[in-house]
Amino acid sequence: MTQIKNIGVFTSGGDAPGMNAAIRAVVRAAMYYGIEVTGIRRGYDGMGKGDFFTMNRKSVSNIIQRGGTILKTARCDEFRTPEGRKAAYEHLVKNKVDALVAIGGDGTFTGAKVFGSEYDIPVVGLPGTIDNDLVGTDFTIGYDTAINTVVDAVDKIRDTAESHDRLFIVEVMGRDSGLIALRTGIATGAEAILIPESKTGLEGLLNRLEFGRKDKTSRIVIVAEGEDAGGAFEVGRLVQEKFPNYDTRISILGHIQRGGAPSCMDRVLASRVGAAAVEALRDGHRNEMIGLINGEIAYTPFEHAIKHHQGIDPNMIKLVEMLSM
Ligand code: F6P
Repeated sequence: MTQIKNIGVFTSGGDAPGMNAAIRAVVRAAMYYGIEVTGIRRGYDGMGKGDFFTMNRKSVSNIIQRGGTILKTARCDEFRTPEGRKAAYEHLVKNKVDALVAIGGDGTFTGAKVFGSEYDIPVVGLPGTIDNDLVGTDFTIGYDTAINTVVDAVDKIRDTAESHDRLFIVEVMGRDSGLIALRTGIATGAEAILIPESKTGLEGLLNRLEFGRKDKTSRIVIVAEGEDAGGAFEVGRLVQEKFPNYDTRISILGHIQRGGAPSCMDRVLASRVGAAAVEALRDGHRNEMIGLINGEIAYTPFEHAIKHHQGIDPNMIKLVEMLSM
């Protein structure tokens, strides 16, 4: 058992619904074990500036149901520099923080991995991103809520698409990952999906529209955003060029996918891994992400969690095609 007295908790990178539930779980589990908790505002940015405050049971009252993050979040360039990390470490020492729980995605864990190797402070991570693009957990905190938001939006788009006999290209988030597009494509009965992991790409999509059933009155195509959002406009232009008889519209769902009350699945996931993070630190774990695989708590080195992109199951891609006949 490692003697940890004060855990610093922070959220970093893109926010995700369920982050508050995770913060709550860390704080309450720490209190349960008699450990103090320091809240760090705006991720690594706040760590470098010493933007810390003491948390107690009450600081996390009434937040389990709220989207966003009460600790706020940021993407921070200074932390990429040795000087930035040194400043952060000095603030941690000054505030007697002797362990960290980092809640975020691959960028957050990349920072945590470097920091944990340079300084003698145990760091564990919780997977908080709507993208679901981490290895070491079946689902990331926020993914379930985000895909339900997408399904709700696409169902609405389907109503108007059907009324007007239109084809809609709907762009969803997932910077380098098609996991939001894939699952929501299945759930909304999309005609086709376009994701970075697909081998057939845009050509496959155009073929699908060309050779797919002709008597459909509405069509939904779900496109995962590329490096920058807005790629759906280019896809739409090419579709319109090839199929001038289709009345095509573009809809970019954008940041609505990141907000809203977390689903029950996300709240439970966040609560379980949040409490497990505190126990992991007590048990001497460090430089690991705490996830959930097949219902069991799983510990994955940061290095592995970020480097190995969750593969796409080709059967899921096939399913979209099979069921949109
Ligand atoms: O990583 C989460 C995510 O929502 C991605 O899906 C998206 O590409 C990116 O963040 C958007 O980031 P920002 O909020 O900085 O525009």
